[in-house]
Amino acid sequence: MSRRKLIYEGKAKILYEGPEKGTFIQYFKDDATAFNNKKKAVIGGKGVLNNRISEFLFTQLNQIGIKTHFIKRLNMREQLIKSVEIIPIEVVVRNIAAGTLSNRLGISEGTDLQRPILEFYYKSDELGDPLVNDDHIINLNWATRDELQFISEQTLRINDFLIGIFRGIGIKLVDFKLEFGKIWIGDDQEIVLADEISPDTCRLWNIKDERKLDKDRFRRDLGGLVEAYQEVARRLGIMPEGTNIKEIKAGITKIKSLKNK
Ligand code: TMP
Ligand code: ASP
Repeated sequence: MSRRKLIYEGKAKILYEGPEKGTFIQYFKDDATAFNNKKKAVIGGKGVLNNRISEFLFTQLNQIGIKTHFIKRLNMREQLIKSVEIIPIEVVVRNIAAGTLSNRLGISEGTDLQRPILEFYYKSDELGDPLVNDDHIINLNWATRDELQFISEQTLRINDFLIGIFRGIGIKLVDFKLEFGKIWIGDDQEIVLADEISPDTCRLWNIKDERKLDKDRFRRDLGGLVEAYQEVARRLGIMPEGTNIKEIKAGITKIKSLKNK
């Protein structure tokens, strides 16, 4: 691990140089942050679960023809991905009002939206990821009009598909965040889905009782975050047979102590 070249360390993930040109390794940390890094914690087992859940969702999306950066999962915490140039926009889709939409516009959490609402945020920690519109994005050259059109269409397709996946396991997809990146193929560019899709980047409510199965458990001090993520993984059918949370947490301790040597 230490011999690898670090490309970028984010709040919840680290990118290393990959084994071949055009690849990176994406490492999922246990760190949780919220409110632009103002609130922080390390939650044992979170990275392992996000790695699995994101692998599953990206693989499903690949199968319906959505191009993504994902190549394969390497181990408990790492994925091999295509190296992409991240477009500095966070694309948020909302199906049900919650979070900052509810706070900003005074719409009670849980209100169904007639149609999905797409929002764009400029990726900048210093500025606290401000909300921007198409004009800002095109005018400031973060993406062209055509690229933004493509990103928006892909996002709505991904939303339809993910709503179905989660509905099938008794979960409402309230909202989520996507990131896209560019890959060069000769002189041509391709835009692919990048980053991750996990309970860190989605709001997922249990249909039966609206119990939160996502990072709001951390943002709002509800506790039980790893248990909730584990439940999502189990319902998706991706927890290895017989795994329990104690084993995951024990596995993490081992990985951490090896890393420190
Ligand atoms: P928000 O209601 O806080 O704006 O969040 C909307 C969705 O986007 C929610 O599912 C969480 C996700 N999100 C991220 O993944 N990363 C972020 O930095 C933020 C602000 C939100
Ligand atoms: N990930 C963001 C942060 O670190 C915000 C969030 O997800 O609430 O602050």
